[in-house]
Amino acid sequence: MLKITVNDTDGSSKELELEVSPSTSLMEVLVENEFDVPAICGGMASCGTCHVEFVKGFDKLPAKAENEEFMLDSLPNLVDHSRLSCQCKVDESLDGAEIKILNDSF
Ligand code: FES
Repeated sequence: MLKITVNDTDGSSKELELEVSPSTSLMEVLVENEFDVPAICGGMASCGTCHVEFVKGFDKLPAKAENEEFMLDSLPNLVDHSRLSCQCKVDESLDGAEIKILNDSF
């Protein structure tokens, strides 16, 4: 079981307990839980509407692929610990993470 804390765009915060499921993305979990994540491209790393900041746990994540880097670099709200939630797998690397939903698009 993994625990993550999610801070939504309206300032609310919620703790989620997740089963390990590497075939599922963090974006899918956020959509399922009705957070403000439009995910317009459906997880193709091409819209930026699943953009999140890792307030805690950024260093535990696997490195970004080139397409994620490229998309993030085009976003207006890029921060040091930005990731596309559609590119983050629901595995042990997320345990204990705290994220803030930014969900901007270019
Ligand atoms: S859902 Fe479009 S970039 Fe992640």
